[in-house]
Amino acid sequence: MRSLPVLSSRAPLQCHGNDATAAMKPGQMPPRSVRLSLTDRCDLACVYCRPHRQDGYVEERLDLAAWKTMVHGLVAAGVRRVRLTGGEPLLHRDVVEVVRFLHTLDLDDLAITTNATRLEKLAQPLRDAGLRRLNVSLDTLDPVRFERMTRGGDLRGVLRGIEGAVGLGFDEIKLNAVVVRGENDTELESLVRWSWGRGIVPRLLEVMAIGEGANLKDRVVSGSEMRARLDHVLESQEAVREADRGPARYVAARHDGTKKVGFITGTSDTYCKGCDRLRVASDGVLRPCLATNDGLEASEFARAGDAEGVKQAIALAWTMKPDGDSFKGCTEPSAADVSMRGIGG
Ligand code: GTP
Ligand code: 5AD
Repeated sequence: MRSLPVLSSRAPLQCHGNDATAAMKPGQMPPRSVRLSLTDRCDLACVYCRPHRQDGYVEERLDLAAWKTMVHGLVAAGVRRVRLTGGEPLLHRDVVEVVRFLHTLDLDDLAITTNATRLEKLAQPLRDAGLRRLNVSLDTLDPVRFERMTRGGDLRGVLRGIEGAVGLGFDEIKLNAVVVRGENDTELESLVRWSWGRGIVPRLLEVMAIGEGANLKDRVVSGSEMRARLDHVLESQEAVREADRGPARYVAARHDGTKKVGFITGTSDTYCKGCDRLRVASDGVLRPCLATNDGLEASEFARAGDAEGVKQAIALAWTMKPDGDSFKGCTEPSAADVSMRGIGG
């Protein structure tokens, strides 16, 4: 058997096995879904994500060829759904090319999560390249609040980007609004109605104690409080998860069954049981869990064009995935040390 990749020196390791062909733990799902953080760079610095715009960036990002090898390894390991994330993935100069390549692989899902600052320019090329689904981050419709929450962002360009993407034929566009008490928590209904009016699915997120979010513990608005505040526009049914999607739970609109609101409640809830998600950071480190910095360096194989080596590294990284029954996701203290900008959410 080939030698295994060097373990990331940046990632404290709690490895449950040392054999790349190690069997999965009983009951464990294979990795079916991956989030590729194309770049850890971002042109915003949202208050729950990043302390300021000057925090560091990784130096050795994978290039396009290495990403292709990485993806071939991921597909060989069983991955069927791919989401591109960041930092801000639309800042990556090859993002359209990456999507075009992924589109050739006949995946079950091909999606991106973006802050929409560059969407006005890139929505059409991304759609043409085969992108199917788009999640955009937008916390407020107030330009002054937007500038404050993003530490300098310009709302107008973001709105132009989102409005321009509507009607391009994406299977689905969703909006992610992280709700911060004393800031945008007065805007829940307006964000929901604004989204519904454009065929966008609004989702309201609890602040999670990941990285910078750990400093906002007293500003968390729970999913149940959000739900109560929207009681008059929502059905009184239990919120439900959707198959082959992320952790959001959805409730239908009271007067229109075609509309819904999603709630992402990573602080009052955990999503670890049955989690089939792997993450790859922009420097080629495999990250089996959002809520820890544990990771396995696979860039060496990706850069060498060795997809089989990547596949073996994935099998090893997967053995590091925390136990879905006992691990408490983003409520674990380890989450506070994770950089959302680095791991891509
Ligand atoms: P779809 O439901 O497939 O559209 O995507 P998604 O909601 O998984 O993707 P998106 O990038 O829009 O993520 C929305 C939020 O969910 C982000 O804040 C992510 O960090 C969070 N999230 C995604 N996966 C997990 C997870 O496994 N655990 C927790 N706690 N949060 C997650
Ligand atoms: N808590 C909740 N959501 C967060 N995001 C980034 N940081 C946090 C946090 N601390 C969201 C972004 C984006 C998605 C990928 O993750 O707003 O929509």
